Amino acid sequence: MDDAGHLPVLLDEVLELLVPALHRQDSTDGKRVIIDCTVGCGGHARALLEASAGMAMLIGIDLDESALLKTKQRLAEFAKDVRLFQANFSEVRTVMDEAGVKLADVLLADLGVSSAQLQDASRGFSFQVDGPLDMRMSSSGPTAADIVNKLSQKELADLIYAYSQERFSREIAAAIIRARKAAPITRTTQLAEIVTRVIARKSPRRRWRIHPATRTFQALRIAVNKELENLSKLLEVLPSLLSVGGRAAIISFHSLEDRLVKRAFSSMVSRGTHRLLTRKPVRPSADEIRVNPRSRSARLRCVERIK
Ligand SMILES: C[S@@+](CC[C@H](N)C(=O)[O-])C[C@H]1O[C@@H](n2cnc3c(N)ncnc32)[C@H](O)[C@@H]1O
Repeated sequence: MDDAGHLPVLLDEVLELLVPALHRQDSTDGKRVIIDCTVGCGGHARALLEASAGMAMLIGIDLDESALLKTKQRLAEFAKDVRLFQANFSEVRTVMDEAGVKLADVLLADLGVSSAQLQDASRGFSFQVDGPLDMRMSSSGPTAADIVNKLSQKELADLIYAYSQERFSREIAAAIIRARKAAPITRTTQLAEIVTRVIARKSPRRRWRIHPATRTFQALRIAVNKELENLSKLLEVLPSLLSVGGRAAIISFHSLEDRLVKRAFSSMVSRGTHRLLTRKPVRPSADEIRVNPRSRSARLRCVERIK
């Protein structure tokens, strides 16, 4: 694990795909531009800056203020080439305007949560440690507790199913409604226990490949942070963000995200403006999964702008 406590996923593969766009030989005035849409703990950002050998500047975006504070220190030696923005990557064009940058040579989005966010109990992302049922990547907007305590049974069941394909979504929603009649659900472990009890009744423990609350927590996190809407907005503007020869890579962690990326990249290719650099999504090696289990569901896709 690196000094920021977060191992960047598929790092070698990201560098192999993106770095050639930083060292291409066409004429350019000034430095190459890297946009890290999810700079997080700065692991990918640092490696990209190192690989650029002083030839690039980096715009780092993240919703999470505490991540940005740590990353500022972590990238201190590159300070003159780094600008960090607390923003949603759905607003990447506005951030670029503010930074005075028209096009990106490299764009990366490593979606989802960081290990730092997962491990910080006070953020409420984890069913394994007790904390407030929050799950927000920024500090504004409704929390997971707001959703769990306010939605109707049908709305909850539909949300859990839509964002995780949890097959016991209806039973879980019914159990949530029963529990919240007694007292509001405000803690992560409270919700994890409610879900675990439902699944324990429905399927034998020996069949559990993952913690039974994994899918419900994923669904709530996606809803709280509007993850699919934000990704769709990024993908909508992406074709116009890259310079010719510029490359974009997106790492997704579940099939709902990957499907959006796959479709958007295919339509860019069919318009003749981009080519795919990954015919199939790149997956982590068995070695990487052993060292970093968080990487197990990662899928990386990459495109290059050709005109
Ligand atoms: C998997 S981590 C990125 C880790 C980073 N690549 C590294 O090497 O340290 C994902 C980050 O994306 C941020 N994030 C998620 N959705 C976002 C959005 N819509 N806009 C900006 N940042 C977002 C999270 O706050 C988190 O810090």
